[in-house]
Amino acid sequence: MSPMRVLLVGAGGREHAIGAALHRSEALLFVAAPTVNPGLKRLAQEYYPANVEDGPAIVARARQCRAQLAVLGPDASIAAGVADSLRQAGIPTLGPGQQAARLESSKAFAREFLARNGITATPTFRIVKAPGELDAALSAFSGEKFVIKPTGLTGGKGVLVGGIDFPTAADGKSRALAMLAESHGQPIVLEERLEGEEFSLMAFVDGKRVVPMPLVKDYKRALDGDLGGNTGGMGSFSTRDHLLPFIPASDRDTAVHVMEQTVAALHKEGMDYRGILYGGFMSTARGPQLLEYNARFGDPEALNVLTIYEGTDFAPLLLSVAEGETRDVFVRFRRRATVVKYLAPPGYGATSVPGGELQIDEATLARNAVTVYYGSVTPGSRAGSVVMGTSRAIALVGEGSSLKDALNRVEEGIPFVRGEYSQRHDIANAIDVTKRVTRMNSLRGIEPKPQGLVDNHTRSGPQPPQVFS
Ligand code: AMP
Ligand code: GLY
Repeated sequence: MSPMRVLLVGAGGREHAIGAALHRSEALLFVAAPTVNPGLKRLAQEYYPANVEDGPAIVARARQCRAQLAVLGPDASIAAGVADSLRQAGIPTLGPGQQAARLESSKAFAREFLARNGITATPTFRIVKAPGELDAALSAFSGEKFVIKPTGLTGGKGVLVGGIDFPTAADGKSRALAMLAESHGQPIVLEERLEGEEFSLMAFVDGKRVVPMPLVKDYKRALDGDLGGNTGGMGSFSTRDHLLPFIPASDRDTAVHVMEQTVAALHKEGMDYRGILYGGFMSTARGPQLLEYNARFGDPEALNVLTIYEGTDFAPLLLSVAEGETRDVFVRFRRRATVVKYLAPPGYGATSVPGGELQIDEATLARNAVTVYYGSVTPGSRAGSVVMGTSRAIALVGEGSSLKDALNRVEEGIPFVRGEYSQRHDIANAIDVTKRVTRMNSLRGIEPKPQGLVDNHTRSGPQPPQVFS
């Protein structure tokens, strides 16, 4: 059989990881993106300059490379309805159409859609369209225990959390008024502030079936200890049992069920969702609650799961999702832990300082089993160097038999990247993970035992901390 011709749209770290997985499955890769990702450039047969939101232009590129499958990486592309243009042109596409993509592109739509379909694992919310509605909406919450969200796409950076981003209800009210004033007529969403630990659950969705991937913990705040601004994600981890040390199988199963209900509701309302559905959940004392949906792979989460993907070849898998028929495919992930760490320009999460150069010794990193994915960078002045843009620059990914092992690989790899960058130092480390386990146990009323902690391998329920291995 001749190799499948695939057009990949987008050029961030996520798309580099998707492109690498397609390349491993011997697809012929074509890339359409506004910037040149040095990693994707090496893998691609052709690299087309393109506006990822321009449906007709993407269709033209898909025709030019005789694509048998188009894969949409970025939220902006999906929100703009590029999947609809590609499907109308007869090209099987991984990525939902514009109507269904409102689950991500309009938080107001998402909340109302879930409510009218009786999907209740969500925080209390209010949609505010005008300043005069604000006081009534705020009366639904206690004090500063609420969260303010712009309805549209913000790259994960626009959400304000009471007690962290604003100290009092009065401050929250002025932040909400300011957000409304800048929202160009779009509503904002206020939500009950939930307490708990977050996890990301991504699934392949072929219109009917939900095929889940391993859970991933994303570190969204810029600074250690979950301080600093919300970012796209500074790093992430996944464990050998595909759960998380603070998330039991029962919470994962509930979250999968919420996604199944959502896909059934989309179907009922006439929306055919073919692509990746990403649920950002918070595990709370009342079980997992949905914070947000994304209509695409997560970044960095895609880097974790695609590293350990070992089922049916990846290109045929994505094609079966795009064609609405995953029934016979074999989706499997290795029982290995993964850690992703992003290196970002100085100031990322507040005021990014672009232009710095990174020198990357990729050969040594590869010998140490560390994979490098390129994000917001352009080729530098020397071999192996890149210049950072304003967003996350490069990701180092380690895989191991335990979380500690995967983390050690990444940590040992970091000195092989030289330059000035920002990073988080606590991603997947024992102190951070123990803190999260302890916090979840105390929320669930489980007595802690005075010990260290392990990667969870085989357990299926919440447990006190054990020894980190
Ligand atoms: P979102 O873009 O909706 O995922 O929000 C970005 C981040 O804000 C999430 O990852 C959480 O850390 C935080 N957040 C969002 N909604 C809530 C909520 N209802 N309660 C507590 N934290 C939240
Ligand atoms: N890591 C969060 C996202 O991809 O939206």
